[in-house]
Amino acid sequence: MNILSLEGVEKRYQSASGADLTILSDVNLSLVAGDSLSLVGPSGSGKTTLLGLCAGLDIVTSGSIALLGNKLESLTEDQLADLRKEGVGFIFQNFQLLPTLTAIENVMVPMELKGMSGIYERAKELLKEVRLEDRIHHYPDQLSGGEQQRVAIARAFANDPKILFADEPTGNLDTETGQLIEELLFAMNKNQGTTLVLVTHDPELAMKANRQIQIKGGKLVGG
Ligand SMILES: Nc1ncnc2c1ncn2[C@@H]1O[C@H](COP(=O)(O)OP(=O)(O)O)[C@@H](O)[C@H]1O
Ligand SMILES: [Mg+2]
Repeated sequence: MNILSLEGVEKRYQSASGADLTILSDVNLSLVAGDSLSLVGPSGSGKTTLLGLCAGLDIVTSGSIALLGNKLESLTEDQLADLRKEGVGFIFQNFQLLPTLTAIENVMVPMELKGMSGIYERAKELLKEVRLEDRIHHYPDQLSGGEQQRVAIARAFANDPKILFADEPTGNLDTETGQLIEELLFAMNKNQGTTLVLVTHDPELAMKANRQIQIKGGKLVGG
């Protein structure tokens, strides 16, 4: 089954001076359940923009994206939010933890939204998996960058997503913790069949995915 497919996707922004900026053009891609894909490319090539479009956080200028059987450009904001809640996990490059909630509360949010039960215990378990069991009641500003990233990773796993988007998930981590996160990501891909889309600058991590795609100047190359 097609989990994600993109046809002729284009994203343009209007610059402050009114000029048209083309960020992504002619992007075509198709992923089935259980696929893992790494996306590699220079800074500014459109990686974060592309992930945001695929996850329904942003809307294409032209072209079409189907995610979990839904045409994203025909959904309302509420329908997009429901789709993300039910089936999508996202690890943001800048974490995006809620500053007024503790680590464990941040991890509980997606499960609360989805109406899952036993969520405190599960959140605790997820934080243990990323080795933060002794930081569960810390607020984001009481955590290091790497620790915040691990909370964001635990949160992305929380709703048992069918597809997980990870924007440089090991970017702020030391080698050992990065290794642990890689293992968790690929274990989820293997054991639960979660489709994995990851942006990374780490060639070793990129090679662990079963498909590699490069992006340059907003266009996909290879894959
Ligand atoms: N909201 C926006 N408005 C205008 N330009 C944007 C916006 N978001 C991103 N861009 C531009 O799109 C390009 C790609 O950005 P991004 O997707 O963040 O790249 P990457 O993640 O590969 O570093 C950059 O040139 C950036 O300045
Ligand atoms: Mg980026």
